[in-house]
This record gives sequence, C-alpha cells and structure tokens, in this order.
Amino acid sequence: MGTRLDDTECEQLMEAAREASSRAFAPWSGLRVGAVLLAGSGETYRGCNVENSAFGLTMCAERVALFSAVAEVGREKLEVRALALVSADGSSCPPCGACRQVLAELAPDAFVIFRDQGGVRQVPVGELLPYGFRMSPE
Ligand code: THU
Repeated sequence: MGTRLDDTECEQLMEAAREASSRAFAPWSGLRVGAVLLAGSGETYRGCNVENSAFGLTMCAERVALFSAVAEVGREKLEVRALALVSADGSSCPPCGACRQVLAELAPDAFVIFRDQGGVRQVPVGELLPYGFRMSPE
C-alpha cells in the first residue's frame, strides 16, 4: 500500500474530479461522474462517465481515467497513488464493482477517495475488493 493523501491533497484531487465531471456525457441517467487519477510521478489523468443509448456500452469515469493513464504512460511505468471520484451533484459515489476489479489489477497499491453517507472516505483498493479475481500472465 502507498502513502495516504493528506487533507489538502485529498480536497485538491476531489476538486479536480468535480471539474472533470463537467465533461460527463450522461443523458440517460443524468448522473455526471468525474474521476482524477494521481500517479506517483505527480501527473494526473482525468475521466468522466460516457453513456451510450445501448446502455451496457456505458463507461464509468474511473475506468476512463485508468485507461487514459495506461494509454499515456504504459502499464509497466504506471504507479497509481490515488483516484478521486465525485458526482457533479455531490451525492454519494463509491466505485462500482467492475471498477473495483479494474483498480485491483491496475492500481493495487492506490487509495480511492469518494463521498458516501459517512462523508469523504479514503480507502485502500485492497479493502474495496477483498478476494478479487486474479490471473497471472503466461
Ligand atoms: N458510474 C460511474 O461513472 N462510476 C461508477 O463507479 C458508478 C456509475 C456512472 C455510469 C453511468 O453513466 C452512471 O454513473 C449511472 O450508473
């Protein structure tokens, strides 16, 4: 596990995620979600949810941010320190199960920052998905 973000870093990343939510494409659910990934290098990578009228093709904000970071730096060089996730309306927004699986594989040492009924939480990926699916590459 990496180092927890302090309160200021946490707020800055949440604010950047709120900004990213302004580019969400969510005409079907109306839920606009933004995510920002903070890499060990200090670089950040943004994501927002992108919906589709064939609903199952919708992509979550977290995975857009994660895949964008992989596309920019490559999986081998990518070290994810944290990922913040917010909904534009300030409602509770913990990561969905599919995103937890992708986080476990691409960002196993990261913290995920989100709001739930208890307030803003910063949770290690390992706690979000115990007993996640794993497969070793050949
Ligand atoms: N959504 C995310 O972007 N991330 C999640 O972890 C949960 C759900 C989006 C997908 C869809 O566009 C909308 O929220 C409603 O499910």
